[in-house]
Amino acid sequence: MDVKTMEKKLRLDKYLADMGVGTRTEVKGLIKKGLVQVNKEVIKKPEIKVDEHDEVIVAGEQISYAEYEYFMLNKPSGVVSATEDRIHKTVIDCIDAKRNDLFPVGRLDIDTEGLLLITNDGELAHELLSPKKHIQKTYFAKIDGVVTQREIEQFKEGLDLGDFITKPAHLVVLCKTESTSEVEVTIYEGKFHQVKRMFEAVGMKVTYLKRLSMGSLHLDKELPIGTARELTKEELSQLKKKG
Ligand code: URA
Repeated sequence: MDVKTMEKKLRLDKYLADMGVGTRTEVKGLIKKGLVQVNKEVIKKPEIKVDEHDEVIVAGEQISYAEYEYFMLNKPSGVVSATEDRIHKTVIDCIDAKRNDLFPVGRLDIDTEGLLLITNDGELAHELLSPKKHIQKTYFAKIDGVVTQREIEQFKEGLDLGDFITKPAHLVVLCKTESTSEVEVTIYEGKFHQVKRMFEAVGMKVTYLKRLSMGSLHLDKELPIGTARELTKEELSQLKKKG
C-alpha cells in the first residue's frame, strides 16, 4: 500500500470514513461507544485531529491511512466504467477495497476488457487523461474484415470520424483468416468508442476489444480477468514520471 505523507491533520471521523470503516454517521457512533482508540487512549470526540503518525484502533483493529491508492484492474466484459450504476456491476465493485473515493481513470466500453487504472488520485488521473499529453493506449482487437496495408496506411494518415480527425495510429496485423483479422492498434487520444469507430470508418467491425496498455502501464498477463491488484512502486513511479 502506498502511504503518502498526509499534508494536514484530519478529523478522526473523516479519517475513519475515508478508510472505509463506515459512513461519517456510523463512525461517529463507534467513537461515541468508546470503540475507537488513538495512541492507546479511548477517544469520544469525532472532531479531534489525527495524522499518519497516530496509532488509530477501531474495535481492536489498527487502521492505517493511505491517502492515495492505485489498482490495476483486468476489466471483464459486462461491467461498466463508473462508480455507481443501478443495473450493472461497476469496475469499483471489482476492487477489494473498503475506501469510498475510488474512480476509474477514463472509460472502457461495457463489452471491452483489459487494463483499467482505478485510483482516488485526481491529479494523476487528470495528467493521464489530458488531451495535451497524448498518452498512448494499445488494444488487442478481433476484426470482422481483412485488414490490409491499405487500412494500415489509413490509420497512419488519420481517419475522418465526422466530429474529428484521428491522430496517426499504429496498426499491426497479428494474424488473419479469409474474413477476419486479429490486430494490435495504438492510439494517442481517447475519444468515445474510438477504436470501434476507426474500424467502422474503414468498413470493418470490431468483434472483441481488450486494452493492453496505457502510457507506461501494461496489463499484467498473470492478472485473472475480473480481478485487480495494487500497482507496484515501480509501475507507479513510471506512470507519474512518464505517463
Ligand atoms: N475504443 C473503443 O471503441 N472502446 C473502448 O472501450 C476503448 C477504446
